[in-house]
Amino acid sequence: MSASLATVAYIGAIILFIMSLGGLSNPETARRGNFLGMAGMALAVVATVLGPRVTAAGIPWIVGALVVGGGIGLYAAKKVQMTQMPELVALMHSLVGLAACLVGFASYVDTSTVFPTPVEKTIHEVEIYVGILIGAVTFSGSIVAFGKLSGRIGGKPLLLPGRHLLNLAGLLVVVYFGYVFLQSHDVNAGMLPLLVMTVIALLFGIHMVMAIGGADMPVVVSMLNSYSGWAAAATGFMLSNDLLIVTGALVGSSGAILSYIMCRAMNRNFISVIAGGFGGGAPAPAAAGGAAAQPAGEVVSVSAVETAELLKEARSVIIVPGYGMAVAQAQHTVFEITKLLRGKGVNVRFGIHPVAGRMPGHMNVLLAEAKVPYDIVLEMDEINEDFPATDVTMVIGANDIVNPAAQDDPTSPIAGMPVLEVWKAKTSIVMKRSMASGYAGVDNPLFYKENNRMLFGDAKKMLDEVLTALRA
Ligand code: TAP
Repeated sequence: MSASLATVAYIGAIILFIMSLGGLSNPETARRGNFLGMAGMALAVVATVLGPRVTAAGIPWIVGALVVGGGIGLYAAKKVQMTQMPELVALMHSLVGLAACLVGFASYVDTSTVFPTPVEKTIHEVEIYVGILIGAVTFSGSIVAFGKLSGRIGGKPLLLPGRHLLNLAGLLVVVYFGYVFLQSHDVNAGMLPLLVMTVIALLFGIHMVMAIGGADMPVVVSMLNSYSGWAAAATGFMLSNDLLIVTGALVGSSGAILSYIMCRAMNRNFISVIAGGFGGGAPAPAAAGGAAAQPAGEVVSVSAVETAELLKEARSVIIVPGYGMAVAQAQHTVFEITKLLRGKGVNVRFGIHPVAGRMPGHMNVLLAEAKVPYDIVLEMDEINEDFPATDVTMVIGANDIVNPAAQDDPTSPIAGMPVLEVWKAKTSIVMKRSMASGYAGVDNPLFYKENNRMLFGDAKKMLDEVLTALRA
C-alpha cells in the first residue's frame, strides 16, 4: 500500500473513531457507535500492516502477534462476566501503558534513525521520556485499580505520612533525571536516568491509586482511561504515527471529560481526588460537636408477597438499580415487573445514579440489554425531585448511591456526594441480601428509616417471587 493510500485510510479510520464516540454518547446509538469503532480499528490495523513502513520480513512477526493478541482478547471477552468488565477495562488500560513503555525503550535503543538536526533528536528524546513516564504511571496505576476493583486489594486508602512531599520529591527527581537524560550523548549513558525515571513513575502510579478511597474509584477509572489515551498519543509521537496521535488524543480527552463528569457526580474536586484519601472504608472521625452519626433504629423486613402488594397499590413507582442488580443479573425480571405494572396503569420509571455499579453507564447498559425503553430511564438530576410524589421506590442491589448519610453526616466518607433521595417517597423497599455496606464501606441509615422496608435475598430470586405474586 502506498504512503498516500495509507494516509487516506488513516483519515477514514479517524473519522470512524469520531463517529463512534458520537454514537457511544447515547444508549440508543451505542451499538452503532461500537460497530463504527470496530470498523475504524480494522481499517487502521490493515492500513498499518500493509502500509509503507512494514517490510516483508516484518509481516510474519506482526501476523503472529495479531493471532496471539487477538486470541487472548477474544478469549477474555468471551469469558469475562458483565460484573468483571471494569476489571477487564483496567487491565486493558495497563496494557496500553506497558506498550508505551516498551515502544519508548525500543525507540531509544534503535539507533538506525538519522536526525537531520540535533533539535529533532532532542525532540524525539523528550517524546521518549514523556511517553515512558505516562506509560509507566498508567501501567502500575491500572494494575492497582484492577486489584481494587476485583477486591484483591482493599478499598481503604493507603495514606503514607508526608505523601504529598513524597510525590513532590518524585516529581523533582523525574525532572532532574530528564535533564540528565537529554544531556547524555549515547544510549549507554542515557539508559540509567531513563530506568530511574521509569521506576519512580511506576511507584508513583501505585502510590497514587493506593491513596484513593473506594468511593472515589469511578474518578480513578475514568482518569486512567484518559491516561491510557495520552500514553497512546505519546507512542504515536515516538513512532511518528499520526493515527495513533489522533486516536490517543481522542481517548485522552474523552477520558478527561468523563473524569470531570464523574467528579461532578461525586461532588469532588479532581485535584483532591488525585491527592487521595477521600472515600475511604475507614470509619469516619468524630465531628467536632460529637460522635459521627451511627445508624440506629428498627429494621422492618418484608416478604416478596408483601412487596408485590405494595407495588399493586402504588400509582407511581421509581426503581433504583445498583451493583447488586448486575451481580444477580436481575435486569430481565425487573423489566418483566415493569411491563406488568405499566400494563396496570402504574407510572414506573428508573432513577440512575452516575456512579451506580462499577463502571460509567453500567446500569444503562444492563437496562438496555433487557430492552427497557429509554424514555423511562432517567438520570439522577432529572428524577430526584419526583421522589416526594412517588408511592414506592424499589432499590435493587444499590447502597452507596441511596445513602442519606451523604447529605446528613458531614463526617461520612461519602459526605457531599449527591444521592438518589429514595427515602422521600411514601415507602422505599431495599432489596439486598444482608445489612452489609456497599463499595464505600459506609453504614446506610436508609435501612432504619420508618418508611423503609428491607426485602432480604438475592435480587433475581426475590424479583422472581415478586413477579409470581404480582401475576397471581
Ligand atoms: P454498592 O454501594 O456497592 O452496593 C451494592 C449492594 O448490592 C451491596 O450493598 C450488596 O449488599 C448488594 N448486592 C450484592 N449482590 C447482590 C445480589 N446478588 N442480590 C441483591 N443484592 C446484592 O453499589 P451502588 O449503590 O451501585 O454504588 C456504587 C458504588 O461503587 C459507589 O460507591 C461507587 O463510588 C463505586 N464505584 C463505582 C464505579 C462506577 S464508574 N460506577 C467504579 C468503581 C466504584 P448485600 O451484600 O447485603 O447483598
